[in-house]
Amino acid sequence: MEEPKVPRHVAIIMDGNGRWAQRRNLTRAEGHRAGMAALRRVVEACDKLGIEVLTVYGFSTENWKRPRSEVTVLMDLLLEWIRKERDELIQRNIQVRVIGGPGRLPPRTRQELDELVSATSGNTGHVLCLALNYGGRRDITEAARRLGERVRRGAMDPADIDESAVAGELMTAGLPDPDLLIRPSGEMRVSNFLLWQMAYAELWFTPVLWPDFGAEQLEEAIRVYQSRDRRYGGLREEEP
Ligand code: FPP
Repeated sequence: MEEPKVPRHVAIIMDGNGRWAQRRNLTRAEGHRAGMAALRRVVEACDKLGIEVLTVYGFSTENWKRPRSEVTVLMDLLLEWIRKERDELIQRNIQVRVIGGPGRLPPRTRQELDELVSATSGNTGHVLCLALNYGGRRDITEAARRLGERVRRGAMDPADIDESAVAGELMTAGLPDPDLLIRPSGEMRVSNFLLWQMAYAELWFTPVLWPDFGAEQLEEAIRVYQSRDRRYGGLREEEP
C-alpha cells in the first residue's frame, strides 16, 4: 500500500496565548512567550516530519487594534525570537520567508528580520513562512492592483488574467497552497488568513491552546488529514 502522504504545506493560526495565560493567572505577555516556545517545538516537529512549508500567523492586519502595550510586547518578542532562533534556523537549513507588510514593524525588528531572511535565503530545507501584519484580503487586493498596473502599462492583456496570474502576484508566490490549516484554541474561523490559498485546504480545529501545542497535536492533525478524502470537487477514485 502507498505510504500516507504528509501535507506539503501546513498553515497555523497560533491562537489562545491570552487564554492560556489567564487560566494560570499570568500576564498576556507570558502567554505570548509560551506561544513562542510552542512555535519552536512545531518548527522542529515539521522539520522531522518532512513538511516542506510551515506558515504561521504571527500578527494580523487587525492585531494593531490591540492595546499599544500588547503590540509592543509582541514586537519585542518577535525580535527576541529572531535573535534566539537565527543560528539554529541557519544550521537546520530552514529558509525563512515573510508575508504581510513587515514595513510597519519597528525599524530594528524589520532590519533583523530582513537579515534573517537574507541569511537563510539560500537554504534548501523546509520553508518557515512568517505572516506578519498579514491579511488575506489585502494580499488579494494588492495582487489585483499589480495586475491592473501591468494592464495599464500595456504589458498584459486582461484576457490573460487567470488563476495562475493571480496566484503569481500573491505574497506566497512560488509556494504550494496549504494542504492543512490548523487552528488551536477552539475558534473555528479562518480570520482573514490565506483566503485565496486555502481554497482546498483541509481544516483541523482543536481546543488545545497554542502554548500547549506541540509535536503530539501536529501528528494528530496529520493523521486526521491523512484519513480525509481530498476530492477537489471531483468524485472518489472508485466512484464511476
Ligand atoms: C493569538 O493569541 C496570538 C497572537 C496574536 C500572536 C502570536 C504570537 C506568538 C506565538 C509569539 C511568537 C511570535 C512570533 C512571530 C515569533 P491571542 O492573544 O489572540 O489569544 P487569546 O485569543 O486567548 O487572547
